Amino acid sequence: MTEAERFILKRGEFETTYIIGEKILQHIWDYSKDNQKAIFIVSSNVDKKFHEYLPDFGNIGEGSIKFTVSDGENLKNIKSYQKIMSVMLENQIEKNSLIGYVGGGTVGDMTGFVAATYKRGMKLMAIPTTLLSQVDSSIGGKNGINYGGVKNVIGTFYEPSVVLADTYFLTASEDSYLRDGLGEIIKYAIIEKTDLFSVLSQFNDLHEIKNEQSLTRLISKSVRIKHDIVSRDFYDQNGIRAKLNFGHTVGHALESISKSAVSHGRAIVTGMLVESMISRKMGIAEDDFYSIITEFMNKFSIKPVNTAQYSIENMLHIIRNDKKTRDGNIYIPLPVKLGEMSLNAVPMEIISESLHEFSGKQ
Ligand SMILES: NC(=O)c1ccc[n+]([C@@H]2O[C@H](COP(=O)([O-])OP(=O)(O)OC[C@H]3O[C@@H](n4cnc5c(N)ncnc54)[C@H](O)[C@@H]3O)[C@@H](O)[C@H]2O)c1
Repeated sequence: MTEAERFILKRGEFETTYIIGEKILQHIWDYSKDNQKAIFIVSSNVDKKFHEYLPDFGNIGEGSIKFTVSDGENLKNIKSYQKIMSVMLENQIEKNSLIGYVGGGTVGDMTGFVAATYKRGMKLMAIPTTLLSQVDSSIGGKNGINYGGVKNVIGTFYEPSVVLADTYFLTASEDSYLRDGLGEIIKYAIIEKTDLFSVLSQFNDLHEIKNEQSLTRLISKSVRIKHDIVSRDFYDQNGIRAKLNFGHTVGHALESISKSAVSHGRAIVTGMLVESMISRKMGIAEDDFYSIITEFMNKFSIKPVNTAQYSIENMLHIIRNDKKTRDGNIYIPLPVKLGEMSLNAVPMEIISESLHEFSGKQ
């Protein structure tokens, strides 16, 4: 077993400790105060699958509890939020108790919102269990639930104090939990000038990635990149954080039109392909991002979503109503060259043309 990576990243006064490696859950006890009462919101799928491996959360402090939730996108609604709040009150969870989660991005988004709002904020520990949640949703503090058919429309910015990214959840799982997160790693490799692009290019297939050492390396680099971007624009106001949304305008439309049958990761990587076409059509891209992304996807056997099965008119309607629309324009971060992005007002016709062209290739 290789040594776990452990580092602290700061945003102003706020510090988050990241521990990344295989079988690292004993660190839960390092970050819970003596006999501190805790509540852990745990994905029922993860609970079943890793029953032998997960610690006894009731042991953290007197009165601590584990509350399992049936996860996936359907968890992120007001009813589940109310249910969790009721459980917290019934169990007399205090403001200075610890709240944690074990699961993918959906459990993370819900628990983050609960942590931010219960008694105006509690200490949050994240134990993300999919690659996507380890490299993306557990970093940067965005949380939220869906309402009125709109994704993440209710939410806050609230960061975890501790993130334990345990690669065992990935090495012991099916490849699909890896493929979904790899799209986001490809995104980080493209949007920032770091060595991640060359590191990722060294892997020839998924098999070479699915081990403790490679995963720890890729997750650590991704965490640092996302944290660095977020800390320069925490509230998503000065355009820096916007570059993280590469692929998300089209990706969110795909998630929405498929009623979340398409996973977040696959939707975003497909969105990156379509938005690369948009960038080329607008004369913004200096590199051939479509080919660069396709090459990574082929290597790691990530299949794009077959967009031809959906109505392009309906997708355009969703995009028009997207939260990134201002003054009738759709603002999309587009790649210029490796490590350089720009935020552009994109005409609807170019999005439509690109979606038609992409669907024609399927
Ligand atoms: N807050 C943010 O910054 C942010 C960023 C990106 C994505 N997100 C959100 O994250 C969500 C997607 O997260 P996700 O891809 O992790 O999906 P998810 O939480 O739905 O998890 C996917 C499925 O995998 C199961 N699962 C989780 N870990 C597992 C494991 N190790 N082995 C086997 N099964 C496992 C879950 O039970 C679930 O059925 C979306 O709601 C998206 O909006 C949030």
